[in-house]
Amino acid sequence: MKLGTPLSATATKALLLGSGELGKELAIALQRLGVEVIAADRYAAAPAMQVAHRSHVLDMTDAEAVKKLVAQEQPNCIIPELEAIATDALAEIEDSGLCTVVPNAQAVQLTMNREGIRLVAAKHLQVPTSHYAFADTFAQLNDAVSQNIGYPCLVKPTMSSSGKGQSKVDTPAQLQTAWDYAKASGRVDTGKVIVESIINFDFEITLLTVRALGSNGEVKTYFCAPIGHRQEAGDYRESWQPQAMIPDVLASAQTIARKITDTLGGLGVFGVELFVKGEQVWFSEVSPRPHDTGMVTLVTQQQNQFELHARALLGLPVDTRLRRRGASVPILSPAAIRNPVYHGLDKALAVPDSEIRLFGKPQAYVNRRMGVALATADTVDEARIKAAFAANLITIKPD
Ligand SMILES: Nc1ncnc2c1ncn2[C@@H]1O[C@H](COP(=O)(O)OP(=O)(O)O)[C@@H](O)[C@H]1O
Ligand SMILES: [Mg+2]
Repeated sequence: MKLGTPLSATATKALLLGSGELGKELAIALQRLGVEVIAADRYAAAPAMQVAHRSHVLDMTDAEAVKKLVAQEQPNCIIPELEAIATDALAEIEDSGLCTVVPNAQAVQLTMNREGIRLVAAKHLQVPTSHYAFADTFAQLNDAVSQNIGYPCLVKPTMSSSGKGQSKVDTPAQLQTAWDYAKASGRVDTGKVIVESIINFDFEITLLTVRALGSNGEVKTYFCAPIGHRQEAGDYRESWQPQAMIPDVLASAQTIARKITDTLGGLGVFGVELFVKGEQVWFSEVSPRPHDTGMVTLVTQQQNQFELHARALLGLPVDTRLRRRGASVPILSPAAIRNPVYHGLDKALAVPDSEIRLFGKPQAYVNRRMGVALATADTVDEARIKAAFAANLITIKPD
């Protein structure tokens, strides 16, 4: 294993496709190892661009644009940071053998579409999931719900993230609205929705699962301590680590996560989302990359999820040990604001054992995540209170 010198002919180059807050922390982790970082996104001055060696603005769903960028930059690896990417281009680039896609093109392709990963999990691997059906038309949706899924249920576009286009449907009268909303809000109109039965879980977790090389060069699976989180309107509002779990239930969660990540393959961090009720565990979905709820690891782990991802994809050893208990609370914008100004950092950072990360996004809009408050404490409950307190002390305003 060797790494070159950035900005020279020997450089080890990583191309980030997607330059949000997760990409920013990943870029920092890669920079610390002397990797040359190239950040790309659809808009200028995106968070990761601000800490990269250089950046490019392009439409990442445009296969030709992605291929052109890769030909120009000739990176050693491509790291997709979000789901809206021309995955066909990634498969072609991977096949050419010129660079690796992290964790691999097929995993990126399968997980960008709820249909792909759901069929792998429920049909191929037979891990427990909610009851589900796919529908191309309203009539199919109606039949699926009335005959199999029942009410209440959740309707989601097959291609969407952060809860976009998702709605809970309690009665038949609401189904048409949910269909229209899902069709209108999908990232790409695949023309398809997924409808799922609702699982009344006790709690939900992200199990960060790392595929990295062991001392003999074999791929090994490592687990981080489970991260509990609370979602509202499809977006996370707080996360904490560790989520307390009965050892047998944690073992079931790890078995599911291992099955899923073994099948996806490659090297890197995966955010496996699971629901837990009593002793039962259901698979929900997986990100083949660090996870937003995993930002808590910035203060809790020996190596945070970004360092783990950087190390794993470079073929370096990883250490997933938890060091402290902690929590994270995102800082959301109250309004659409260009180049917003942040007030109250002095007060927020006076909260003991707290940290604030501001992402530096040039454009805020209602409920857009602009930063995150992090805190550690002797107990998770105390950490959650501290993180929420610190987050609330920050206000986002126009200049
Ligand atoms: N079948 C389900 N039963 C109960 N809650 C669900 C179900 N599906 C999703 N949710 C809730 O909605 C959140 C977002 O759904 P998810 O499928 O993870 O969408 P996204 O890709 O937008 O993150 C989940 O974290 C969970 O809180
Ligand atoms: Mg999710």
